[in-house]
Amino acid sequence: MDKEMMEFFFKIHNGDFRGGPGSDISTEKAYNIAKKFLGKNISVLDIGAGSGFQTKALKILVDGKIIALDTTEIYLEKIKKEIGVETVNCSMYNLDRSFRHNTFNLIWSEGAIYIMGLANGLKHWKLFLKKGGIISFSHISWIQDNPSMELLDYWEANYPQIRTLDENKKIIDEGGYEIKDYFILPSTDWTENYYDDMADRLKELEKRELSEKEKMVINMHWEEIEIYKKYGEYYGYVFFIISPK
Ligand SMILES: C[S@@+](CC[C@H](N)C(=O)[O-])C[C@H]1O[C@@H](n2cnc3c(N)ncnc32)[C@H](O)[C@@H]1O
Repeated sequence: MDKEMMEFFFKIHNGDFRGGPGSDISTEKAYNIAKKFLGKNISVLDIGAGSGFQTKALKILVDGKIIALDTTEIYLEKIKKEIGVETVNCSMYNLDRSFRHNTFNLIWSEGAIYIMGLANGLKHWKLFLKKGGIISFSHISWIQDNPSMELLDYWEANYPQIRTLDENKKIIDEGGYEIKDYFILPSTDWTENYYDDMADRLKELEKRELSEKEKMVINMHWEEIEIYKKYGEYYGYVFFIISPK
């Protein structure tokens, strides 16, 4: 996407709805698993926090301090103002710029580790975990075999790094982590909590006069929604709760 398209992308993703599939219920479910392995007064880093939907849920759940990290300033402003959690504008690739090693009991990341890639993200982020710490993250995965050619083509064009659940488990294991637990996000985390809001936003923006490039960005989003409607049982987000071995 060029600059005009990126700017319009952020008009769609203005922070008023989630940045990806998820829900307070799934955040709480994952936190309750992570909590079993953590003490009190913990330090938490929420990586790729977006406009903070999961940060807000965590704030209610966590006994301790949360820092929300993202590179999109409009989202960080929203978190500071509306949730009142400390924010850091720092790339997930370069956590050294903001933090010392062995700093966090819990690293949280919903729908954002794909940016670095699973293996890369887990390798870098591990350095910032305290001993006995937990990483809890949601990540895209194939969840059913034999996807159609149309679906394979879609993912090949949009995120060819998508892997099966078993392949992702292997990446986690080879990255030196033990999987404490995992679960697949329910489809309502995609529809009611994400695509329905996205569709409302697209319809709202379509009322405006749009450039060809803006129309292309809108259409990419409609395609994503349509693909999920047609083939959503083949792929999903898996929430993993893991710890270094
Ligand atoms: C798919 S959204 C997920 C947002 C949020 N966790 C949620 O589930 O609603 C991914 C987020 O990662 C952020 N991001 C992109 N590149 C990043 C980077 N290099 N470092 C940190 N955050 C980044 C984006 O600004 C965006 O907010």
